[in-house]
Amino acid sequence: MTDLNKSTTPMVERINRLRQERNAVILAHNYVPGDVQDVADFVGDSLELAQKSARINADVIVFCGVYFMAETAVILNPDKTVLLPDLNAGCPMANMITGAELRDFKAKHPGAKVVCYVNSTAEVKAESDICCTSANAAKVVGSLGDSEILFVPDRHLGDHVASQLNRPMTLWPGFCPTHQHFSTAEIDSLRATHPGAPVLVHPECARPMRQAADFVLSTGQMCRHVATAPEQKFIIGTEDGIIHRMRKENPGKEFYLVSQRLRCPNMKKITLEKVLWSLEGMQFKITVDPEIAKAARRSIEAMLDVSK
Ligand code: 13P
Ligand code: SF4
Repeated sequence: MTDLNKSTTPMVERINRLRQERNAVILAHNYVPGDVQDVADFVGDSLELAQKSARINADVIVFCGVYFMAETAVILNPDKTVLLPDLNAGCPMANMITGAELRDFKAKHPGAKVVCYVNSTAEVKAESDICCTSANAAKVVGSLGDSEILFVPDRHLGDHVASQLNRPMTLWPGFCPTHQHFSTAEIDSLRATHPGAPVLVHPECARPMRQAADFVLSTGQMCRHVATAPEQKFIIGTEDGIIHRMRKENPGKEFYLVSQRLRCPNMKKITLEKVLWSLEGMQFKITVDPEIAKAARRSIEAMLDVSK
């Protein structure tokens, strides 16, 4: 989605002026606050953002998302300046496995292939054979033949892919805390209030929620689904930032978040003020050790090749 905000609030004007002066591009994930999405040049899911950042024509990328996303942009763009507006915007799931833990895991499963969800550190990507996102995980795993698969760090996405492909995988026990914040009872209650409204959940949700849903989709797939589906009402089981984009792109359709607790505190650290300060002070520059970046780039590019 490309939507350069032309509105004239003083803060947006300053962001637009600095964006031009710095030859910068603002990329935003579907979960960041709505006013940040509105000022972005491009809004998307993790795969779309990785694909976009691989083709960017600018000197500076302001990455409105969490740390691992900015790190991925650095790995794909070693000659560009990548800024993350808040250095503390991390992803707890990405920190649930370290490079050392993955080396240990691999040593216990000689010959296995490692698929790593992009929600992971650069060091973990560097130790993996191929990355995946929630949009392409089944395709990535399916491309690996019959080898044993170690899937890190998200046990729920791993479990979802294993059942989609009907093949066993060895899963690391990581998870997203935000996507555990609702229950099937909340899905049932919204279904009763809005009969006929399909339920869309993210694969980071635990199995009971995935089984109770009609569709299990990445955030980008959800946006495309609601735009073309004939229904007018949808029940959404993922982070609440996506509701802004869905309402904006589909006026007249109605979107109900399964639970108001579906808020990622890290995505919400990326405020409009911090985007401005980021461009003003050229902060915070994200860097990756060149050796780790080289190995991590191989895993990310392997994924991008499979996703073409
Ligand atoms: P998507 O790739 O579906 O946008 O998901 C990213 C993420 O962090 C979900 O929690
Ligand atoms: Fe990480 Fe979950 Fe936030 Fe996504 S929603 S960035 S997986 S904590």
